[in-house]
Amino acid sequence: VVPQKKPDDFIRFFFFFAVMHASSMPSLQTGLDALDALLEAKNYSSVFVLVDEHTHQYCLSRLQQSCTQLRDVEVLEVESGEANKDIAIAAQLWEAMIQLGADRHSCLINLGGGVITDLGGFVASTLKRGMDFVHIPTTLLAMVDAAIGGKTGVNVGIYKNQAGTFQHPAAIILHPGWLDTLPQREWLSGYAEVIKHALIGAPEQLDRLFAHPPLSRRKDETLILDSARVKERIVAEDPLEKGLRKALNFGHTAGHALEAYSARTAAPLTHGEAVSLGMRIALALSVNHAGLSVDVRDRADAYLAAHYPVLPDCTVDDLWPLMLADKKNRDGQVNFVLLSDVGSPVPDCVIDREAFEKTYAQVKQR
Ligand SMILES: NC(=O)c1ccc[n+]([C@@H]2O[C@H](COP(=O)([O-])OP(=O)(O)OC[C@H]3O[C@@H](n4cnc5c(N)ncnc54)[C@H](O)[C@@H]3O)[C@@H](O)[C@H]2O)c1
Repeated sequence: VVPQKKPDDFIRFFFFFAVMHASSMPSLQTGLDALDALLEAKNYSSVFVLVDEHTHQYCLSRLQQSCTQLRDVEVLEVESGEANKDIAIAAQLWEAMIQLGADRHSCLINLGGGVITDLGGFVASTLKRGMDFVHIPTTLLAMVDAAIGGKTGVNVGIYKNQAGTFQHPAAIILHPGWLDTLPQREWLSGYAEVIKHALIGAPEQLDRLFAHPPLSRRKDETLILDSARVKERIVAEDPLEKGLRKALNFGHTAGHALEAYSARTAAPLTHGEAVSLGMRIALALSVNHAGLSVDVRDRADAYLAAHYPVLPDCTVDDLWPLMLADKKNRDGQVNFVLLSDVGSPVPDCVIDREAFEKTYAQVKQR
């Protein structure tokens, strides 16, 4: 078990990884028996499982029951929460795994939400210059989004995902059964990404989504697979985010800034809550700058406003520096993904501060 307190002095080491190590994307697998078959076939020198305290409590023993080869493995536990997707925690995991004899032929199984898949993917893709890892996502957000696409990463200070790699896991195993214990707020957080996928790449899913409140669809496995496949398809077409994949950042420019801002307040937003607000801003910008119809904006905005929190009490002065720090920007400009229609994303739209201020004021009033 990894000690759960961060060493205070470690953060002095400020460095960025930019390792491009894009192996091929595994297809999504459903059913936990796929894991036994994979471990049998790969014959790893050692296997580790990374959990947080919640996936330790709710998921680990169920996984070990269904996968006999996992009954006797090293379990690494980190504290849950975005604050622990951190370079100092990654270093503790590297150290623990080295001490436990990990080598290049080891495998790390990441059993958890997006924090665990991002952190574990980063640790495994850098330790010993890269070993195999398997994602077993246990939140809706990780099932439809974080576990798919080969992006790993950790935060550096308040800036999200600044150090990371592109490396695909050896397998992604979807098991919607984990969601039984997922708190409602976390379900809603993932549902924002489900809506995003429909808006950018699956117009046919949108009517089905908007016909029901999010929570009524908790048992709907088709919803999860359909949404995960939107991301899988986009990533397969553009693995290194040269073009189409940028569309997945719809709602994330302002969303990440709101998430970072709110993290310093007494009411932090979940990732998906922040993305829901970021999408409302991006939808309004899309009407003003990309020709999106007001009808589409109104429909999506009404659904998001009805089921997600209101904007926190922050100004453009609070958000703009955070948006400028977004690593997808260049030349000191802020880039947004906008929509010209449902299913027609327009990446790399530069919006200046004045235009953003005008739209932000409109969204605040809605
Ligand atoms: N790599 C990518 O492409 C990508 C894409 C989207 C998001 N992300 C990252 O994903 C992270 C957010 O992921 P998340 O929303 O899954 O958050 P998370 O991993 O923090 O999980 C949310 C909470 O749910 C708990 N939990 C997980 N599974 C559970 C279960 N089955 N039952 C009960 N509790 C459970 C966790 O312990 C945690 O408290 C962010 O860091 C974000 O940057 C990465």
